Amino acid sequence: MNKPAGMPAPLIRLADYQPPAWSVSDVDLEFDLAIERSEVRARLVLQAGPDPQAPLRFNGEGLELLEILLDGEPLPAGRYRHEHELLTIEGVRHGQVLETRVALAPAANTALEGLYLSGRRETGFLLTQCEAEGFRHITFFPDRPDVQARYTVTLRADRERFPVLLAGGNPAGHGELENGRHWARFVDPYPRPSYLFALVAGRLERISQDYRTADGRDVALHIWAEADVIDRCDYAMDALVRSMRWDEQVYGRNYDLDVFHVVATHDFNMGAMENKGLNIFNAKYLLADPDSSTDEEYLHVEAVVAHEYFHNWSGNRVTCRDWFQLSLKEGFTVFRDQSFSADMNSASLKRIQDVSTLRRAQFSEDAGPLSHPVRPAQYREINNFYTATVYEKGAELVRMLAGRVGPQAFRQGTDLYFERNDGRAATIEDFVGALGEASGIDLSPYLAWYGQAGTPRLQARGNYDPANGRYVLELAQSTAPTPDQPHKKALPIPVRLSLFNADGQAQRLRLADSEQDLGTETVLELTDQRQRFEFTGLSQPPIPSLLRGFSAPVVLDADYAPDQLAILLRHDPDGFNRWEAGQQLALMAYDRLYRGEDASAALQAWTEALADLFAQPDLDPGLLAELLSPPSETELAERQVDIDPEHIHHLRHQLNDAIAARIGLPPLLARYQALAAASTSALDASSQLRRRLKQVLLGLLSRLDAKVAIPLAQAQYATAPAMTDRLAALTVLLNTGAAEAGPALADYRRRYADNALAMDKWFAVQARVPGAAALARIEALAADPAFSLKNPNRVMSLLGIFARANASGFHRADGKGYAFVSHQLQVLDALNPQVAARLATALNGWRRLESGRREAAHAMLRELAARPQLSRNLAEIVNRILE
Ligand code: PHE
Ligand code: ZN
Repeated sequence: MNKPAGMPAPLIRLADYQPPAWSVSDVDLEFDLAIERSEVRARLVLQAGPDPQAPLRFNGEGLELLEILLDGEPLPAGRYRHEHELLTIEGVRHGQVLETRVALAPAANTALEGLYLSGRRETGFLLTQCEAEGFRHITFFPDRPDVQARYTVTLRADRERFPVLLAGGNPAGHGELENGRHWARFVDPYPRPSYLFALVAGRLERISQDYRTADGRDVALHIWAEADVIDRCDYAMDALVRSMRWDEQVYGRNYDLDVFHVVATHDFNMGAMENKGLNIFNAKYLLADPDSSTDEEYLHVEAVVAHEYFHNWSGNRVTCRDWFQLSLKEGFTVFRDQSFSADMNSASLKRIQDVSTLRRAQFSEDAGPLSHPVRPAQYREINNFYTATVYEKGAELVRMLAGRVGPQAFRQGTDLYFERNDGRAATIEDFVGALGEASGIDLSPYLAWYGQAGTPRLQARGNYDPANGRYVLELAQSTAPTPDQPHKKALPIPVRLSLFNADGQAQRLRLADSEQDLGTETVLELTDQRQRFEFTGLSQPPIPSLLRGFSAPVVLDADYAPDQLAILLRHDPDGFNRWEAGQQLALMAYDRLYRGEDASAALQAWTEALADLFAQPDLDPGLLAELLSPPSETELAERQVDIDPEHIHHLRHQLNDAIAARIGLPPLLARYQALAAASTSALDASSQLRRRLKQVLLGLLSRLDAKVAIPLAQAQYATAPAMTDRLAALTVLLNTGAAEAGPALADYRRRYADNALAMDKWFAVQARVPGAAALARIEALAADPAFSLKNPNRVMSLLGIFARANASGFHRADGKGYAFVSHQLQVLDALNPQVAARLATALNGWRRLESGRREAAHAMLRELAARPQLSRNLAEIVNRILE
């Protein structure tokens, strides 16, 4: 994996795509599994590509080649070459069988890619991770998604040490062998790419459920986990069954094997993996119980279980031609899981949360040197492109397309896409083309969204003429240049809108050149750089509610007056836009505060409306909680150059303080106490939303009067019926700097010492505490015996939260935050390059820091880039950030 210094990995370009010279139709794999050393025998039936004279070049990394045969005959040393991570053979013929035997060392594999050990040598289990290019760490293969083959897999291992043997596909026999060993075989009837290969072997327990698909197939569902956590898998099973039903009903997609396995591991680089018939999950996204999981984590489990299940069609049956098309499966599948969660919970809250995530993670990614299109044009290390842009922005593009064609045509379009591309490796054009064909709408202008990086800025200016009752809305778009694209095209931007009058009533809409009554909501499509839309028949100056439901992933710049936004905040029936009006008011106030100007008009309009909404007893508590939360520090920082994160942190406090002061202590306290008195560990949606509101109120109380809040937090910690309340209380104790935080932390640790996921939160909640004292705290935690750079969840809980979610702590003026993280990065990179690269993306925004921090970050990055032996993963990120 590690490249010698001074030799950057080659750039791989979409424009250079060629079909494979040699492909494989059938794969027969035999594994002899053991912790220290495993052996793999592969028999591959070769398929010639366009040029049958071309040499065969298969990938293989870190493999010890023991044997190689062609059609059963050992290949003499001169007939093949094994160098530069490639196996090259000249003169092979279509239909020949290439057979190799290799040895692997799973326990030494700390990169968690290929075959590796989860847990400890004595007790852990073996598993594989192949997306994107892990299969080449298991055997020689044309390891690219457009090579689709039929797999037969046989596993052999000691029965006592590895009682459970699993691989993807349907079971096809098992039995005993000599010396206490046993075997199991699996056949997958569907051709599939190598990145979907998976096996699991070890001591695991299971929970099971029978399921009958809408088209009548009986499926055995199994969730597997180690004995100490198997009783935390019930919620995942429930979510799985609901996902399967939903996909049948909403997309007409049925499951297609006789078994479906899901396995939990504590050692995983990503969230989860959709291997055919054998999904593997980071335990963080599978296990859930009230005592150790928060409500938010329950929602994540539900969403990720659905996401991986939905991949069975959007990803597995129809896969990607090449990794540039990654968003074809990921953007679409995220859109599918978002729609599922919206159907299972509150749709407008889900939308608010998804847009917040997009703004925090994707807009910031797109505003820095790591900006790239949803379909990147080039990469050096594909693992660096599992990004918010490919996932979250990709989902927004699918949402825009779905909105453009309407629900019926969208369903017809996805049916057509699945049918036409079943068993194929497809492209984004195949997807957009199918939707276009089914709807009869030319969607080709939307393809530009896939190729153009950066967040468009949408400017809206309205002008009302009382003399003739006409309102002219002028829309204009622009996108700032990004590293590889100095000139940006105009994109089609659907702008869903309503017009309200001063009483908060939505007006009927009629465009000037048409007689059609459009009702109270319509979608304008901005296709040019600038366009005017004229509405008629308006007796009062309208207040536009724009981009309703966030109809396009853009930054809106509209010339609202504070009072107009306050009317939307009070009256807009679209929950998302109501929240958005509040966010816009908060930003207006923030911008003025930042510039040292008088912010009272915006602050007053915002907090007065919030205080009135707070007093409405029937307002949804979940929505109220979101309304009372100002934009994140990351979003605030996006608005400036020469960023001083400590200053921004302080300004965000001022926004919170303004809300708290306007509502006032007695009402906040009364509402908090009413919620606290009724607190339970119940998991129904309304209990969850009331807990969320309670948490926000405790935060506001702590800003208003710490002396009041600290005893409340202490009591909440002590009596919490479940994790959500316990962690919320701990957060407030820590953030107020209360002496009571110490005993609570110690108590938490005692209680959860053996619960890895709960201990992750113990690290994370401390890593998040802002301010100058953060670094010393993080350094101490990094030296804690419970911390380990070998476990990705632990690394992200401590270092990931510190560097990515604690700007005021990490971006210290003295640069010591950078020095500390740089050191950790170097040690981590030698163990796990993927996780190191992800951590390093925290520096994406360094150029926009104020000069002192900028210089310190720059020096750190340059020093890091100059180090020999950086992994390809980390080197690519550091060099792109520096470009
Ligand atoms: N394909 C996985 C998902 O989105 C993510 C993943 C990528 C997991 C690479 C592991 C490795 O569902
Ligand atoms: Zn996915």
